[in-house]
Amino acid sequence: MTPPRPGLLAHVGDTPLVELPRLSPKPGVRLFAKLEGHNPSGSVKDRIALAMVEQAEAQGRLAPGGTLVEASTGNTAIALAMVARQKGYRLKVVIPEGVVPSIADILCLYGVEVLWCAPRAGMRGAIDEALRLADAHGWVATRQFDNPVNPRVHHDTTGAELLRELPDIDVFVAGIGTGGTLMGVGCRLMEHNPGVALVGVEPRMGEHLQGLRSLDDGYCPPLVDLDILSARYLIPADRALRATRRLVEVEGVLAGVSGGATLHAALRYAERIERGNVVFMVSDGGWKYLPAKPWDAAEAEDSGLDETHWW
Ligand SMILES: Cc1ncc(COP(=O)(O)O)c(C=O)c1O
Repeated sequence: MTPPRPGLLAHVGDTPLVELPRLSPKPGVRLFAKLEGHNPSGSVKDRIALAMVEQAEAQGRLAPGGTLVEASTGNTAIALAMVARQKGYRLKVVIPEGVVPSIADILCLYGVEVLWCAPRAGMRGAIDEALRLADAHGWVATRQFDNPVNPRVHHDTTGAELLRELPDIDVFVAGIGTGGTLMGVGCRLMEHNPGVALVGVEPRMGEHLQGLRSLDDGYCPPLVDLDILSARYLIPADRALRATRRLVEVEGVLAGVSGGATLHAALRYAERIERGNVVFMVSDGGWKYLPAKPWDAAEAEDSGLDETHWW
């Protein structure tokens, strides 16, 4: 018998990869979801939060009682809050106003100080503010948007886990926030099979899907190398929301909205192939979005979805 792994941080990663046969569009195409909501704080971001904190410790930039600062729209903030609690650090997060209200509630429970910035400043404004605060106060900026540890940990863990369970991956689909997941996993899969198709998922320009960003909106995260991608899908919010609903109705997977966006893109890409194994990321679970009831809005008859910012 394997003894229990001690401490929450030992349980980051090794998330389930599940086949979703009822959603598969044709007999030759097998569809698999990597369920990152099974991480201790509930999202894929536990992986990078732990890696970035351990990097700062190893470099001697972070000492006991130190303060971390990061710009985030939610999941990275929650993941860092969990890691900071486990390791005894303080955390400040810069968040653009307008995120899902339950994210602020969760951060409050963790004892994190939230520094709001105006939504028009966007993620770029939040990043600049986090770096300014780090300089001014001697806090440690974890810098998820340009920290090479972000794609590296996905290369070493997420990508390696996928290949261990499913060596023949033909298509990999992930949303683009920092781009860390897509680049890190993508490079790992390409080392194994140079022919793998890497598919990026973004919200349609001007729309908002929690955790994802439209590269056409004016900020392309420096980690992103568009040249290695086979396709980029710009998904309208209403389609992502309907696909999120299908995930739970057809396969029982309660995913966050970016999981619906990646499912929708995976099905679009599957139209172009006759057979193959298609893996898509489900970066978090749906729980923290429930108070906002986004699924109901997607069902509304005339919801004006093209103009809507969902959170
Ligand atoms: C819900 C959700 N999905 C997908 C992503 C994209 O992940 P990455 O930053 O690795 O591109 C994020 C990132 O914040 C996220 O919060």
